[in-house]
Amino acid sequence: MFTQPIPTLRRDGDALAILDQTLLPWRSEIRRLTTAAGVAEAIRSMQVRGAPLIGATAAYGVALALATEGADDAVLERTIALLGATRPTAVNLHWALARMARVLSPLPPIARAEAAWREAAAIVDDDAATCDAIARHGLALLEARLVARGEGRPLRIMTHCNAGWLATCGAGTALAPVYAAQAAGHAVEVLVSETRPRNQGLLTAWELREAGVPHVLIADNAAGLLLARGEVDLVITGADRIAANGDVANKVGTCLKALAAHAAGVPFYVAAPHSTLDFDCASGASIPIEDRGADELCRIRGTDEADRIATLRLAPADTRVANPAFDVTPAALVSAIVTERGVAAPGELDRLYPERQR
Ligand code: MRU
Repeated sequence: MFTQPIPTLRRDGDALAILDQTLLPWRSEIRRLTTAAGVAEAIRSMQVRGAPLIGATAAYGVALALATEGADDAVLERTIALLGATRPTAVNLHWALARMARVLSPLPPIARAEAAWREAAAIVDDDAATCDAIARHGLALLEARLVARGEGRPLRIMTHCNAGWLATCGAGTALAPVYAAQAAGHAVEVLVSETRPRNQGLLTAWELREAGVPHVLIADNAAGLLLARGEVDLVITGADRIAANGDVANKVGTCLKALAAHAAGVPFYVAAPHSTLDFDCASGASIPIEDRGADELCRIRGTDEADRIATLRLAPADTRVANPAFDVTPAALVSAIVTERGVAAPGELDRLYPERQR
């Protein structure tokens, strides 16, 4: 079982301790959240981020509300609405809240707070085990690609955004097979795309450096050239929501990589847990896409000469900005989806999850 070098979240008495991802890769700081409103703000501001992780965090938000505000139906409903409104695209958030409601609603209020802490912990354990299973199935895919390509140089894997341990309660999704390949003694090199505007690629580069996995940071716009030149053996990303037909919503820029990979004949894989599958969405067209503020494009964060975290303005404040945070990759561009139950073509998710068909 993979152990996170720093837990992305953990219960700390009557509080929730989170690793504040807005300070990474410059600082590792833990923040203590004591209210559901604080949890909602941490999710909205992306102190916690990544589809599986925001689901687990929201579950703890419910536990905090029931422990501090009372556990009647009104508190439960109000808290689920508050947390559910923080981010629209990652279905894991809504999955986790629905699971909490299913378990807690039938209970008498007196029993709800303890049950909520227990259920949130179970969601964390479920996600960690799920990541480990994705690692195993994804490793088999990577090894097949190594055999097809022949030894000689490291397996070159391109990824986008951050779908590593920082985005989950375990090893990650897209990066879990990479860590498994490294542990199995295979030479790998990861091409990490910057992922403008929030630069989650820097989180991926930080994770990989900490784990000793060779990697190269690239500008998002370099991906097409590297794929066309045959410098990439496969692309693997995570997902925020996968529709019943296999269309994949993930961090904006994913679809461009899939298009370039398709044109270059390079496999494009998506790794995701069961909590990312949305069989209620027939296709990607019905997946809500989060629009985020102009500041994410108009300002940039880094460290100054004195190693202080600083924010710089890139574009004038009155610049008109469009900032859709996710895009949808059509199933036809996805070579396979890796879940904890195995590997399937995007149109064959029903084979892995027959019980969830609508
Ligand atoms: O906006 P973010 O940083 O929460 O977006 C995260 C992603 O798009 C990840 O690739 C996705 O959640 C998969 S996480 C295992």
